[in-house]
Amino acid sequence: MSYKVKDMSLAERGKKQIEWARMHMPVLRIIADEFSREKPLKGIRIAAVLHVTKETAVLVETLVAGGAEVWLAASNPLSTQDDVAAALASEGVHVYAWRGETEEEYFNAIKTIASAEPQIVIDDGGDLHAHLHSAAQEIAKKVFGGTEETTTGVHRLKAMERQGILKYPVIAVNNALTKFMFDNRYGTGQSTIDGILRATNILIAGKIVVVAGYGWVGRGIAWRARGMGARVIVTEVDPIRALEAVMDGFEVMKMDEAAEIGDVFITATGNINVITKAHFEKMKDGAILANAGHFDVEVSVKDLESIAISKREIRDCVTEYVLPNGKRFYLLGRGRLVNLVCAEGHSSEVMDMSFANQALAARYIVENRGVLERKVYNVPLEIDRRVAELKLRSMGIEIDVLTDEQRKYLESWI
Ligand code: NAD
Ligand code: ADE
Repeated sequence: MSYKVKDMSLAERGKKQIEWARMHMPVLRIIADEFSREKPLKGIRIAAVLHVTKETAVLVETLVAGGAEVWLAASNPLSTQDDVAAALASEGVHVYAWRGETEEEYFNAIKTIASAEPQIVIDDGGDLHAHLHSAAQEIAKKVFGGTEETTTGVHRLKAMERQGILKYPVIAVNNALTKFMFDNRYGTGQSTIDGILRATNILIAGKIVVVAGYGWVGRGIAWRARGMGARVIVTEVDPIRALEAVMDGFEVMKMDEAAEIGDVFITATGNINVITKAHFEKMKDGAILANAGHFDVEVSVKDLESIAISKREIRDCVTEYVLPNGKRFYLLGRGRLVNLVCAEGHSSEVMDMSFANQALAARYIVENRGVLERKVYNVPLEIDRRVAELKLRSMGIEIDVLTDEQRKYLESWI
């Protein structure tokens, strides 16, 4: 059995964490039961690059229940829950992940799981897809299809599709309605605040919180921060989203202006260099900097390091930088996804829907092998609706059904 994790003695603790997550993931439990009976993934090797959390473990168990052999690496060097990784390794999953991987170890782990020659690849952020489209193209040729969990990964895959170099069909799980409307918004909204609180224990009420980006993630964060009593400022580059933020009641301004007044800055754009040297120079002493976007490029850590005269870890997950003018800034989770590095990521209840889409997308790829082209596809609406129906049912909520008369009325023009 091959694996590389931090400490196998953590496996028993990890199993309890997974049990806790499973208890809160009813949709995935239903799919796991179905997979156990029908074995839709029998003989399929899956390589997955995901945040190695208790929720990911429940997805992996579901894929294994379906008959798959799973190889797993982390989608961020700092997000792995080491107890969960150990528990999965003890259950026969090929896990190559530990918290605190160097960049080199991170990419080596991806290389290792890709070399297992998977038929299905599941990615969060696109580093596995990028590896298969550059250094491992021979392996990519044998892949039936892939999935992608997050907005940034979907952007990267669409760029490959535009260039005509995509080597296998991909299902953009991020684009399922039961994914981005819930995971990106409510999941990241709550878990980002959770990460900031676990790292700093600051009082949100009364703070000026600047949220960069008013997409699905930014909206969630802005609303949750306001709900806790913050005065929230939004920065945007898209006029429609900026207008939406204004009419949702937020202050909207340029980052240049917000930099002067913010107490806490949270980036959620999926873009690069959103907060840079020019902004640090204007910020107040004590400003807190956090990122919720996929990569650690939104707050320019490079700029911060270049202008700081000293740096120290003042608390777990909090790095203090002192500038020549004496101002102190506090970077959380080294500028990586604050919700996964300083807390546990999204709650199980929301990952239940995201990962139900992942499991059903994997099945869909196997069942449609040869039919799907080398394109980026959305999750089929039947899958999306089924996930919503199962989730509602698990919550004990029933909804009305269209009568024949109503259906005909909606379909007619008279
Ligand atoms: P989105 O496309 O819905 O929103 C991004 C927004 O940022 C857009 O409105 C865009 O106009 C804006 N933007 C781009 N550049 C900007 C700039 N320089 N200044 C201000 N605004 C700018 O994307 P999303 O689904 O909200 O995802 C955002 C990021 O969060 C992505 O990197 C995604 O992969 C990541 N994500 C993280 C988690 C997590 O657990 N932390 C979960 C889901 C998504
Ligand atoms: N992305 C955000 N939260 C997550 C979680 N709890 N598990 C896996 N991926 C995630």
